[in-house]
Amino acid sequence: MKAVEIAKNIYFVGANIRNGDLFEGMWPIPDGVSLNSYIVKGEKTALIDLVRDWDNAPKSLTEQLTSLGISIEQIDYLILNHLEPDHTGWLEEFLKRNPKVTILTTQLGKKMVKSFYKNEENVTVVKDGDTLDLGNNMILTFYSTPNVHWPETMVTFNESSGVLFSCDAFGSYGCVDTPFDDLLDKPTHEFFDRESLRYYANIVASFSPFVEKAIEKLSGLTIKMIAPSHGIIWRKNPQTIIERYLKFASYMNGPAEPEITIIWGSMYGNTEAVLSPLIEGINSERIPVHIHQVPNEDVSYPLTSAYRSAGLVFAMPTYEYRMFPPVAAAIDMFGRKHLKNKKVLRIGSYGWSGGAQKEFDTMTADLDWECIEPVEWAGATDEETNEKVYEQGKKLAQLVKQFCVQS
Ligand SMILES: Cc1cc2nc3c(=O)[nH]c(=O)nc-3n(C[C@H](O)[C@H](O)[C@H](O)COP(=O)(O)O)c2cc1C
Ligand SMILES: [Fe+2]
Ligand SMILES: [Fe+2]
Repeated sequence: MKAVEIAKNIYFVGANIRNGDLFEGMWPIPDGVSLNSYIVKGEKTALIDLVRDWDNAPKSLTEQLTSLGISIEQIDYLILNHLEPDHTGWLEEFLKRNPKVTILTTQLGKKMVKSFYKNEENVTVVKDGDTLDLGNNMILTFYSTPNVHWPETMVTFNESSGVLFSCDAFGSYGCVDTPFDDLLDKPTHEFFDRESLRYYANIVASFSPFVEKAIEKLSGLTIKMIAPSHGIIWRKNPQTIIERYLKFASYMNGPAEPEITIIWGSMYGNTEAVLSPLIEGINSERIPVHIHQVPNEDVSYPLTSAYRSAGLVFAMPTYEYRMFPPVAAAIDMFGRKHLKNKKVLRIGSYGWSGGAQKEFDTMTADLDWECIEPVEWAGATDEETNEKVYEQGKKLAQLVKQFCVQS
């Protein structure tokens, strides 16, 4: 990563993480992730968001600062929009090198600096609407945006340039080489569009009502550029990513897109065998289908697809009197991530007395899912079962259509 001036006296710095680790210890990031920080220079210098000691990120950050002629010791203010360790993990070492820095964060952020990094003396609390004058007409304003993604979260805004430093909000997975959306080629742009949804579904979705509140709160600002702490900078038309975020947030309570996601798992192919009539039934209503097999695919991907789909199908056999465990694990994750208000079908094979359906009903009882009549059959499928599955696929697609048109 190279330091880039994004507006007069404002620089993008940070690190790309490409070491194959999982994000938050669980989400696959095959194309890495960036930890973006920003330097804002007036007479004084501020650094917005830090990095974690992860895949040489501190070295990368320090080198970029050096390229700008700034050493760690010369930073007057460290603004911590969010205390999650991906943006703060290197704080103890930073403080050793620069014990005089003033850390600016929210009241709750101050508590977390103490609990995570055992420091109190460097911290100054900022309240909603407080400003920091760096001199030379460079003023930063802070707005608290609780629960996007942790309760202490805030964003930082520079009115004269219109740059909003939004930390996790509007972020994306993926390493960043060219930080600006308008300089990306089409495939790279599409990659970030996809990965911003996956990031949202994995990390932010649970907090959707707070995303809506934060966007409403910031709606009076003239935002010309959104500079998040993961992924690319949105400057061509920042309103586009704001509107996409509002759309993502609206998926939580539904209806999401008029699409159906099939999550399936099968040991010996008896359940897999009905996927064809199922898909035909759905396609007969011209509803797009997304298919995800578990555990072959990490749950991050079916979760993303399911989050944006108004309809879901779970296809799995009975296993030890309960659901096939990889599909049960996916459903458990969907519940944790508050995937509500979906139209749902469950189908699957069993050997003798079944049991998957009973567990499915119990597990999904609190999710506000409208489940249509399931299809279950003993052993291998036959024409009658295929026909039933086709009909239920069609019915689900019709229901999804109605649901999405009505609302
Ligand atoms: C390890 C294992 C556990 C199973 N447990 C049950 C069970 O508790 N109840 C039941 O009715 N069938 C059970 N079955 C039978 C399967 O549900 C049946 O073979 C089904 O057709 C498998 O579907 P699949 O080919 O899609 O994997 C079990 C099968 C296996 C291999
Ligand atoms: Fe976060
Ligand atoms: Fe983050």
